Amino acid sequence: MELIPVPRAVEGPVRGGVRLDGETVLWAAPGTETTERWLRATLGAALGLSLPPGPEDGRNAVRLHLDDTLEPEGYTLAVTAEAGVDIRGGGAAGLFWGAQTFRQLLGPEAFRRAPVTGKREWEVAGVTIHDAPRFRWRGLLLDVARHFMPKDGVLRYLDLMAAHKLNVFHFHLTDDQGWRVEIRRHPKLTEAGSWRARTKFGHRASPLWEEKPHGGFYTQDDIREIVAYAAERHITVVPEIDVPGHSQAAIAAYPELGNSDVVDTASLTVWDNWGVCENVLAPTDTSLRFYEGVFEEILELFPSEFIHIGGDECAKDQWRRSPAAQARIAELGLADEEELQSWFVRHFDTWLTARGRRLIGWDEILEGGLADGAAVSSWRGYAGGITAARAGHDVVMCPEQQVYLDHRQDGGEDEPVPIGYVRTLEDVYRFEPVPPQLTEEQARHVLGTQANVWTEATEDQARVDYQTFPRLAAFAEVAWSALPAPGARDFEDFGRRMAAHYPRLDALGVAYRPPTGPRPWQRRPGVLGRPIEGAPPNV
Ligand code: ACM
Repeated sequence: MELIPVPRAVEGPVRGGVRLDGETVLWAAPGTETTERWLRATLGAALGLSLPPGPEDGRNAVRLHLDDTLEPEGYTLAVTAEAGVDIRGGGAAGLFWGAQTFRQLLGPEAFRRAPVTGKREWEVAGVTIHDAPRFRWRGLLLDVARHFMPKDGVLRYLDLMAAHKLNVFHFHLTDDQGWRVEIRRHPKLTEAGSWRARTKFGHRASPLWEEKPHGGFYTQDDIREIVAYAAERHITVVPEIDVPGHSQAAIAAYPELGNSDVVDTASLTVWDNWGVCENVLAPTDTSLRFYEGVFEEILELFPSEFIHIGGDECAKDQWRRSPAAQARIAELGLADEEELQSWFVRHFDTWLTARGRRLIGWDEILEGGLADGAAVSSWRGYAGGITAARAGHDVVMCPEQQVYLDHRQDGGEDEPVPIGYVRTLEDVYRFEPVPPQLTEEQARHVLGTQANVWTEATEDQARVDYQTFPRLAAFAEVAWSALPAPGARDFEDFGRRMAAHYPRLDALGVAYRPPTGPRPWQRRPGVLGRPIEGAPPNV
């Protein structure tokens, strides 16, 4: 059985199975409604099966049950000639993942949006599958700030995540290059902050710009739809509002947020370059009150336990030069600018905790101490995650050396913009989220793992697809399946299953990087393949 991610246990295939046709009925126990709706909508569109409600005991039936002897996200799927198809979920989410496996058993046609003309029956071989995830946080970050992805593309990515049993969508909504979420009380964030005049063409060492405005944002209604669409698919959306760095778009909209005693913040525009930006928030009460207002609206829109506050790459030069920032350091009795950054982060840690949420931030937030409930996204390698887990903080492992999917997937000439580390499909398949330095007890703080898709070099959906796939399929298996140690993983077996997975991705219309052959259409003429500073020699 060519399933991705690979399940825990598969008995079969055995002789005999089921044939689905226009007579096949769907029986759904109470509590299984999300999967019932999803199966009818998805298989109705793809195969033309209407799956009307029917009795529990038929042979030509798909039955959905809950079974609390299973793990909440676990399921069993049984296909037998005698009893049809039974999917049992430990909870509503487990059932939904079982339905995703069932769709894979139906073949690539089940991934279309309209049926193959004239085809009316689909065979599924007899099989019993027992499955449950290794990690509870199986994430994908999409950076919609550097390049905006319209709502429709985001909903499509939620479907692609669901097809790979990923369940946390880290929505990177703000950055120096654009602010992407409507905030009613601060309308200029999107009126002025969501558009930039031009865009750096290629990576940050490139001398070229594309002289074309770029932007866009999600209304609060769009966000509510995205969150609801994700929830139907048992995906949690974790919003990221990046502070106190990565804030030039906000400062361009509201100059009083910047360090106006050392820079002319009134003349700042939304940033048109890549890299670490020097324009960061001023450490003032004005900034705190402004962002409390932002977060109040964010909490209304996003019901997630975790709220991501960024906290990465905050350049300190302006704070060093700013008399106002220095006065703040003195007034608070802090040692230096690093402690000022911690003070800023801790303010929102306390603020979120008081509202029943938990703060999560990039590993830089560890530098100044955190509230007990705060969690860390470990991106600069494993080190931040190890420190955090040892200190009792929860961790999401997303080291840039391993799972930054904007980085190139081959060292050859064909790759579009040669940024970052070379990470092949096999490298991602051999990624291990739990480092051996952690004890079993500490390792329990690793909530899971996340692949990050930054979009400086990916200006549209086709380019995002090319960077993300097929590596997201390998990542999904790392996040879901109980794979052996990296060196013992069977990449050949994964390749055999990928051969069956590519036709599914084709049916879904994913513009993945093809496994063989030239890819000249991806190259961008004039973009320099220069290494980026501080990166290892293979960059
Ligand atoms: C990051 O890549 N700056 C989190």
